[in-house]
Amino acid sequence: MTEQAVRVGLLGCGTVGSSVIRMVQEHGDDIALRTGCRLEVTRVAVRDVERDRGFSLPAGAFTTDGVSIVDDPEIDIVCELIGGMEPARSLILRAFEHGKAVVTANKELLSSAGKELFDAADAAGVDLSFEAAVAGGIPLIRPLKESLVGERVSRLLGIVNGTTNYILTQMSDHGWSFPDALAEAQRLGYAEADPTADIEGFDAAAKCAILASIVFNTRVVADDVYREGIAGIQPQDIADAKRLGYTVKLLAIAELEDGEVSARVHPAMVPVTHPLASVSDAFNAVFLEGQKVGQLMFYGRGAGGDPTATAVVGDLANAARNRVAGTRGIGCTCVYERRIRPMDDTRGQYYLNLHVEDRPGVLAEVAEHFAHNDVSIERVWQEGFADEATLVFITHRAQEGAFQKTLAELRELSAVRAVASVLRVEGEE
Ligand SMILES: NC(=O)c1ccc[n+]([C@@H]2O[C@H](COP(=O)([O-])OP(=O)(O)OC[C@H]3O[C@@H](n4cnc5c(N)ncnc54)[C@H](OP(=O)(O)O)[C@@H]3O)[C@@H](O)[C@H]2O)c1
Repeated sequence: MTEQAVRVGLLGCGTVGSSVIRMVQEHGDDIALRTGCRLEVTRVAVRDVERDRGFSLPAGAFTTDGVSIVDDPEIDIVCELIGGMEPARSLILRAFEHGKAVVTANKELLSSAGKELFDAADAAGVDLSFEAAVAGGIPLIRPLKESLVGERVSRLLGIVNGTTNYILTQMSDHGWSFPDALAEAQRLGYAEADPTADIEGFDAAAKCAILASIVFNTRVVADDVYREGIAGIQPQDIADAKRLGYTVKLLAIAELEDGEVSARVHPAMVPVTHPLASVSDAFNAVFLEGQKVGQLMFYGRGAGGDPTATAVVGDLANAARNRVAGTRGIGCTCVYERRIRPMDDTRGQYYLNLHVEDRPGVLAEVAEHFAHNDVSIERVWQEGFADEATLVFITHRAQEGAFQKTLAELRELSAVRAVASVLRVEGEE
């Protein structure tokens, strides 16, 4: 096979960008043999050109001027690894104007300005690839878009944020509080100094929007995704879950029901027998159910420079091959306009722990509120302590709005002293 050189301009050279350069340098021969394309990273935009990045590039490769790379006629593919909205968005759009393919890992940008970017890529007839934007090193986007192109997915559950999965794993393994587990995650570099994007579920919501858009072929943006983080999870919630045969995970959930899409991120109790229950520490996994394929799970490292670089380099090699062949891969697949179901209209299962007065008739009083809101109870336990009792319920699948109304009524009931814990339950058959 004759070898074609394809020149890459890198925008950003931090955790992921520097791993991409090292991988291209170390594995370049393999990539050339396997694809017929030799990737050459010839120019790199950063903020600080003086910093030693631990590898060498030809003199003058580094610049602070990203526009000069995007405009450079010698650059074939632009790889955006700056992150955030601007200047990433403007630089990508400008690259398309020059007919260059773009590879990015930018979930934040894709989950809010995806339509604009894909329209521009379509207009230019070039690739916009983003394998690394969801679940870092796990090959996921191309399998979903290409390998499963003939499949109909009904449901997807994902653990797509390593920081929160690490924190919940530590809480479960050691009985730690959320602040203690967060502090440990920060000490080990799993959580940022400002952990908001992870612990409040923003990062997972952006990824959920991207995954839902791909599997249900409709545009879902980050703001469409209902979001709850993990800061409110108490050691007692985790202990209760364990006692009942569950583990607590922050899940990204996308479902298609009656032609409508629901997308949400929240903590949930997952049965210990479910494949996602064993995904621990900073690992990620995406579990889906398809009409023909049945259950499928993708598992691996969702972050870190080297794992994420494998996804970026895979996209670069693919874009390079397409460029050499004068073609492009599958573009945007948001071909339908599906309604996004409001959270209140979604259906789920719930766990509820109530502290109530220990007297005859309380269980019936409480159960009546479930009944008139059409929330059916699957299991109930009662434990008495002194003058107080604990009532624990797991419901059947019920409408979210109906469950929230039940909860609001129970909070007003004089027999209910405290709503000790409320958690959603996911992954039951
Ligand atoms: N880190 C991960 O594990 C991971 C996993 C999956 C996806 N991603 C995504 O990958 C992207 C990059 O993440 P990262 O962790 O590598 O970020 P990072 O370590 O913060 O690196 C950002 C890079 O962008 C450069 N930069 C910032 N502003 C710039 C500007 N205006 N012009 C030119 N260069 C600029 C920085 O330059 P200096 O080096 O000079 O400061 C740095 O090299 C993000 O979209 C992120 O969400 C990251």
